Amino acid sequence: QIIQREYLSNGEMKQWEGELSEVSSPVCIRTTEGLKRKVIGAFPVCGTKEAMEALDAAMAAYDSGRGEWPTMSVANRIQRVEQFTFKMVAQKDLVVKLIMWEIGKPYAESVKEFDRTVEYINATIDALKDMDRQSSRFEIEQGIVAQVRRSSLGVVLCMGPFNYPLNETFTTLIPALIMGNTLLFKPPKHGTLLHYPLLKAFQECFPKGVVNTIYGRGADIVPPLMQSGKINVLTLIGSSKVANELKKQHPKVNRLRAILGLDAKNAAIVTKNADIKLAVSETVLGALSFNGQRCTALKIVLVHEDIADDFLKELSVAVSNLKFGMPWEKGVNLTPLPEPGKPAYLKACIDDAIANGAKVINENGGENVASFVYPAIVFPVNEKMKLYREEQFGPVIPVIPFKDLDETIEYQIESPHGQQVSIFSNNAEEIASLIDPFVNEVSRVNINCQCQRGPDIFPFTGRKDSAEGTLSVVDALRAFSIRSLVATKL
Ligand code: G3H
Repeated sequence: QIIQREYLSNGEMKQWEGELSEVSSPVCIRTTEGLKRKVIGAFPVCGTKEAMEALDAAMAAYDSGRGEWPTMSVANRIQRVEQFTFKMVAQKDLVVKLIMWEIGKPYAESVKEFDRTVEYINATIDALKDMDRQSSRFEIEQGIVAQVRRSSLGVVLCMGPFNYPLNETFTTLIPALIMGNTLLFKPPKHGTLLHYPLLKAFQECFPKGVVNTIYGRGADIVPPLMQSGKINVLTLIGSSKVANELKKQHPKVNRLRAILGLDAKNAAIVTKNADIKLAVSETVLGALSFNGQRCTALKIVLVHEDIADDFLKELSVAVSNLKFGMPWEKGVNLTPLPEPGKPAYLKACIDDAIANGAKVINENGGENVASFVYPAIVFPVNEKMKLYREEQFGPVIPVIPFKDLDETIEYQIESPHGQQVSIFSNNAEEIASLIDPFVNEVSRVNINCQCQRGPDIFPFTGRKDSAEGTLSVVDALRAFSIRSLVATKL
């Protein structure tokens, strides 16, 4: 067990004497009262006072852009981030184990999450070096010499998600930091402890007040920060509902920059010209990797009615071949779910679909034991069901049959989401006819492959309610900074 009593604020590792929040793993153990989540540690439940102190520290460190960190040369800031990365890598074993225990991510995937994060930091450093070289160039036009500068934005409130608690948090935290902003960092509820081994490295590598952690109940500590009007950038990977509520609390919302990764309901479109085997294997990967708990997961399938039977049969077989197990077991695909309420929520979605005329077509689909949920293929799904539009974020594959390709475009046009789509077809003309309509609706169209974020240098965003701002290396550096000109008349 790891009992965390420290938090980092204003350059100090402060001792917390108050309430602690128990961290329980989705991995269950047998007790006399039945299967129970294993308690693996605890973290501080700080309050508004500590959150506001952290805000004061971040503001003082920023000092309206005159602080040591925002005025430090790019080369020196890069050097500090390199030092941090070095110390972070030294904690790899512990951080990886904590990812695995806290959110039930398979061990190999937890290692991948860590390595990918380090690669992301290194790519960010390289991109900033390039950007810095370019920004010192002079541009001359009509007798005016102009120097383009890139400046930081101020105090950033950074909140990451539970499904990529390290990687997705750092894809915003690191670019925000390296561009000279100061930070308030709230780790995700499921995925808090894994950041604990890194606090010392933050303390040692950055000037005081540049990185401050805030722990506690989000509903208690985040609204006062937003209401203060002193947060310059809100960055959150989570739900659009939460993001909208937080934005509304800021008294000068027009001065708030928001970099948000939000809800998605990515569709797989399987046309009658699709290679069914390929469509099935990519759908299984896309819909069920990490139990479907990825913002980029395939969350609905639209399949042409002529091939629906064959597709569903193959899909059921492929799902039945997946291996359930504990996250430390080799080769497991499906692991326990970290959110305690998720099995009941998924059951409610499935029951609602059944009540509206659908069936679970695979054996054991939707069964729940402890924190495990066996994947359910639900067919035929229609607009009366929750699964039609709601982001289930779990191991359920809703399938809609269609007659005409226009129906698939209509589905996307009417959707409030606009992150990605996957189109499966072997007919080049058909694919070409679908690309434009979908590019108008989503931010990435995948042809004959699942939806995903990587490679991480690609721009990562979404239309409609799916995102605000663009992430991924160069885009993130731009998102957490602003260009200004110093123009001199010759
Ligand atoms: O949950 C959102 C992640 O950014 C998805 O990344 O597509 O590599 O799993 P991924």
